[in-house]
Amino acid sequence: MALLDIKNLTVAFDTSVGLFKAVDGIDVSVEAREVLAIVGESGSGKSVAMLAVMGLLPKTATVTADKMEFEGLDLLAMTAQEKRKIIGKDIAMIFQSRWQA
Ligand SMILES: Nc1ncnc2c1ncn2[C@@H]1O[C@H](COP(=O)(O)OP(=O)(O)OP(=O)(O)O)[C@@H](O)[C@H]1O
Ligand SMILES: [Mg+2]
Repeated sequence: MALLDIKNLTVAFDTSVGLFKAVDGIDVSVEAREVLAIVGESGSGKSVAMLAVMGLLPKTATVTADKMEFEGLDLLAMTAQEKRKIIGKDIAMIFQSRWQA
């Protein structure tokens, strides 16, 4: 079982000029003790994808995925309260700057 297992993750933002798809169907699988680097040009959706995993996107974001599991736990089905037990403890983010994650 992968530590983090994501299939077909999509994030769309509801903006004043319509729907903006920032992440379009990515798959990510990370095994325990494995280090994965996600590389891409600025604005390609790296931060948004990981913020979606942590449930830290604003309400304007719609997150969908066929699968989003951490240690076999379904992150999509979890309540905010359940997620708070994992986020910050087992899954964390080092922000590159104040807001631009
Ligand atoms: N709250 C938001 N509402 C609308 N669009 C957003 C929002 N947050 C991010 N975006 C857009 O989503 C896209 C992906 O942004 P993201 O920050 O994930 O890029 P990135 O790959 O992390 O870039 P960088 O390498 O500069 O950190 C960008 O076009 C960004 O403008
Ligand atoms: Mg970023």
